[in-house]
Amino acid sequence: MELKNRRVIITGASRGLGAALARGLAAKGAKLLLVARNAGPLAEVARATNAHAVTVDVGAPGGALAIAAAAQALLGGVDVVIHNASVLGPVPLKGLLDTTDDELEAALEVNLLGPFRLTRALAGAMALKGRGVVVHVTSDAATNVYPTWGAYGVSKAGLEHLGRIWAAELEGRGVQFITFDPGGMDTKMHADAMPDADPATLARPAVVAERLIAQLEGSS
Ligand SMILES: NC(=O)c1ccc[n+]([C@@H]2O[C@H](COP(=O)([O-])OP(=O)(O)OC[C@H]3O[C@@H](n4cnc5c(N)ncnc54)[C@H](OP(=O)(O)O)[C@@H]3O)[C@@H](O)[C@H]2O)c1
Repeated sequence: MELKNRRVIITGASRGLGAALARGLAAKGAKLLLVARNAGPLAEVARATNAHAVTVDVGAPGGALAIAAAAQALLGGVDVVIHNASVLGPVPLKGLLDTTDDELEAALEVNLLGPFRLTRALAGAMALKGRGVVVHVTSDAATNVYPTWGAYGVSKAGLEHLGRIWAAELEGRGVQFITFDPGGMDTKMHADAMPDADPATLARPAVVAERLIAQLEGSS
């Protein structure tokens, strides 16, 4: 896929992998709508990438429709959506016996329900056009059992399965679903989860972003 002038939504674009994707995709000439909750850091990335930005909580009930409406108004439609925004759940990480309903719900709202709602708001138009790409950014915690990563792990397992079911239901309609595991990266999320990790052992988000961008370029 030629990325020049493609209209791309990136959630969680104010730092880490999302910001790196914004820089990399802007360099390819993509038209971007960036999403995060905090306006200041998001505006800085938007300025640097000549992108549009909306401050929306992807886990909020009206979040998906606000993002979809902004994409229609500002970009005239959407070719690619990258569900990258994510939260860890309770920090410091803790076992399920100590995890509250609210903590699990909060992780599911941002990591699973938000992407579901946003794809639902966009995929009908993509299927009508016969073209679109939906990227779910996942984690090895979706498949590996890491004690204390319960809220995050089940949300990512759900997200991966959500992508499989979307793909099966829209098969033959021209909408492609990509599940992308970035691996360990030197970001705030990783530092919050594992404060003692040596950043030198972790991948730079810009390097990981190039991997996903190459995958998008290789897609039809
Ligand atoms: N870092 C790793 O080692 C690693 C490993 C495997 C997978 N991943 C996955 O890679 C993706 C990117 O992770 P990262 O490490 O770059 O994370 P990060 O540094 O914590 O950045 C998260 C981004 O998401 C935004 N965000 C968080 N909650 C949001 C919400 N409710 N609504 C809208 N935006 C929200 C944050 O901005 P605001 O706080 O301003 O909203 C920020 O821009 C995530 O899906 C993560 O699960 C990361």
